[in-house]
Amino acid sequence: MRVVILISGRGSNMQALLEAQLPVEFAAVISNRPEAQGLAIAAGHGVPTAVVDHRRFPDRAAFDAALAGEIDRHRPDLVVLAGFMRLLTDGFVRHYEGRLINIHPALLPAFPGLDTHARALAAGVKLHGCTVHYVTPEVDAGPIIAQAAVPVLDDDTPERLAARVLRQEHRLFPRAVAWLAAGRVNLREDGTVAVAGTAALDGEALLAPGD
Ligand code: GRF
Repeated sequence: MRVVILISGRGSNMQALLEAQLPVEFAAVISNRPEAQGLAIAAGHGVPTAVVDHRRFPDRAAFDAALAGEIDRHRPDLVVLAGFMRLLTDGFVRHYEGRLINIHPALLPAFPGLDTHARALAAGVKLHGCTVHYVTPEVDAGPIIAQAAVPVLDDDTPERLAARVLRQEHRLFPRAVAWLAAGRVNLREDGTVAVAGTAALDGEALLAPGD
């Protein structure tokens, strides 16, 4: 399976994917920001990199067309959004239907959009986490492939909670890509996903707060 990863910044999820020894070929890492730290990490792993700078395009449609052109040069079977911080046009999303996934730092459908950790704290939820999902035109609303949950602690700050979630993002994302590569992910007619051969839960159910 040929995989193209899109990033905008730090690239820690991309790095987790590159280092997970997945049975895939990472064809390219593409950033919309030339200063993204993840570009150097990708190059250090021998993965070709490219920049499609959104600031050079007059509008979203023109940027998305250029981005798709760069992506398609690499003939990907899967396009992975790993901290890619641009809204994508419907046309772009439809072009990659069924082969475009994202990681979102919340337990969707709770907290789509930005500032998820601060919003989770403000809502007082006791479990928070991250979600790997297919991308559809509605932001953060596509079919859910996998989720990881962490407890929210009484003295959490958005930063501490973000760090706890991020550790799980780095575990969850490579697993989801491995399942996709193995052809185990079944996107069903009703918009839900079944992953063949997985256990109901990795470990015990998580109750928070604990006793
Ligand atoms: C992650 O929290 C991811 O869930 C969100 O953006 C952040 C990207 O971090 N979409 P990194 O660039 O992977 O380090």
